[in-house]
Amino acid sequence: MKISIISGSNRKNSQSIKISKIYFEKLNRLDASVSLINLEKERLPFWEDDYEGYIPPHKEAFKNISIKLHESEGFVFVVPEWGGMVPSQVKNIFLLASNNEFAHKPGLIVTLSESLGGSYPVVELRSFSYKNTKICWIPDHVIIRKVKEFDPDKDLRLNSRLDYSCKMLLEYSRALVSVRNVADLKTFKNGM
Ligand SMILES: Cc1cc2nc3c(=O)[nH]c(=O)nc-3n(C[C@H](O)[C@H](O)[C@H](O)COP(=O)(O)O)c2cc1C
Repeated sequence: MKISIISGSNRKNSQSIKISKIYFEKLNRLDASVSLINLEKERLPFWEDDYEGYIPPHKEAFKNISIKLHESEGFVFVVPEWGGMVPSQVKNIFLLASNNEFAHKPGLIVTLSESLGGSYPVVELRSFSYKNTKICWIPDHVIIRKVKEFDPDKDLRLNSRLDYSCKMLLEYSRALVSVRNVADLKTFKNGM
């Protein structure tokens, strides 16, 4: 099972990369083949339109990631809450991935907050990211509050939720194969 983890912060030494690496290890232990896409390193340009022969820089920059996402059968989005929102570099991915990279594949939402936030990005992703991408967010999202203090070896209750979310993501990945087999992405590329 191929899974891509998207680490949604463009800050150096971010909490997002810390948590992404924890997920990487957990999914590896469950025999998934895991790729980590770190938005701090990728520095993807924002989506731009083509016009009069102008080819926007995101086309080249996104090429390899697009292939990786296409090959993936499930996704983990590790997303910090910024200003009560999903950071713009994460939303940008949903515009760049316009070739059904996410279509009818499960996504696990993991949000982070330095304090007691983290629910707004869950709501934003669930409401405003699936229409054209057709990503299928699984119900078992995870919110890691006081993320700087989070230590999986000490917070066993939350850590067991992380484990459970990995297990469920892999099951949904398997289950949605039959959905993808009947999906008509040519006629119904964009949602309503
Ligand atoms: C620009 C910015 C805005 C933030 N806004 C919020 C917020 O609205 N609610 C919240 O709970 N935490 C907020 N935080 C704290 C982040 O959720 C926390 O620092 C998180 O670890 C940042 O993730 P990162 O280290 O992966 O970038 C904000 C942090 C930054 C940098």
